[in-house]
Amino acid sequence: MQFDFNLDFLQAKAPPLIGVDISSSAVKLVELTDTGKGLYRVERYAIKSLPKDAVTDGNITNLDAVSAALKQAWAQMDTKIKNVAMALPSSAVITKKIIVPAGLREQELETQVEAEANQYIPFALDEVNLDFQVIGPAPNLPDEVEVLIAASRKEKVEDRVAAAESAGLKALIMDVESYATQTAYDLVARQLPNGGQDQTIAVVDIGATTMHLLVLHNNQTVYTREQAFGGDQLTQEIQRRFSLSVEEAELAKKQGGLPENYDAEVLQPFTDTLSLEVARALQFFFSSTQYNHVDHILLAGGCAAIPGLDNIVSSRTQVSTQVANPFANMALSSKVKPRQLTLDAPALMIACGLAMRRFDPS
Ligand SMILES: Nc1ncnc2c1ncn2[C@@H]1O[C@H](COP(=O)(O)OP(=O)(O)OP(=O)(O)O)[C@@H](O)[C@H]1O
Ligand SMILES: [Mg+2]
Repeated sequence: MQFDFNLDFLQAKAPPLIGVDISSSAVKLVELTDTGKGLYRVERYAIKSLPKDAVTDGNITNLDAVSAALKQAWAQMDTKIKNVAMALPSSAVITKKIIVPAGLREQELETQVEAEANQYIPFALDEVNLDFQVIGPAPNLPDEVEVLIAASRKEKVEDRVAAAESAGLKALIMDVESYATQTAYDLVARQLPNGGQDQTIAVVDIGATTMHLLVLHNNQTVYTREQAFGGDQLTQEIQRRFSLSVEEAELAKKQGGLPENYDAEVLQPFTDTLSLEVARALQFFFSSTQYNHVDHILLAGGCAAIPGLDNIVSSRTQVSTQVANPFANMALSSKVKPRQLTLDAPALMIACGLAMRRFDPS
């Protein structure tokens, strides 16, 4: 399912574009191309970290900082493409499935959707960006179709568009983060036994501040939940223990060089807590749905780069666990360093899913 929120995407057929994820710790840019043989290629990507509080709960709270980071990341990419696909956090989007008569013309459908949306959306329609997608025939109702409506407050869309614009970029697509993750997941699913068919898969994205759980059955999303937990907790503990600044702690976390007791006294307690949070989130999923097991866990987000985390999570949960890499089956341009990409890949799920929008059939 993909949304555009009425940005003028319809102009050209598959215009070149870059996927841009504005997350709490960084802006992340990915450019993919289609080599024409059903094989994608990672042309280039960039991650530029953001100062603390530039993005809070998915909202851009410091436009200048975000725009400056976008500018730098774009320059670092050394690309010509200025068109971008972006996404809103799922928490900023209301979705609702409605049923309408089949065979409506585009204009009639729009009118119908607006009338229905009026009932479900707690804002005036001129304050929201509205988009919809016909899903298909309604179950058991031969003359009706199901339509998924997505709505977001205009200011949420405008903030992101403004950040892009002030960095000299042009937003063509405004998707939803969870849908972009699902697009990237589809790439990862191909690497799973049986392509993920007949299986229940948990994607656990642990970023800087938030842990997202997405559960898929037969590659369709059946459950999502987010909670406040992330790598910032480890960074803060490193700062406290070793009297370092945030920047120093972030760097040390990734590049090493911390005192010998770091592993046993700081990292291990963090990964213990992390695996416990994953186990609890799964328990919560089981207790609130008809499901009682998952076949596989995929770890995503920056924390997935912690060495050995897959083993720690799998021994706690007793579920086979692997680190997600949406680029695993892609070719790499000579500008991309394979080892670094493998480390960065789990944090690039959303940016990758957005970059894939370049290949939308139109
Ligand atoms: N090699 C690494 N080892 C340990 N932690 C890492 C490594 N690389 C990144 N991280 C941590 O991952 C976190 C950033 O992850 P990610 O980029 O997924 O977050 P985000 O998407 O910005 O945040 P959120 O999803 O919470 O908004 C930071 O806490 C960072 O320190
Ligand atoms: Mg994230």
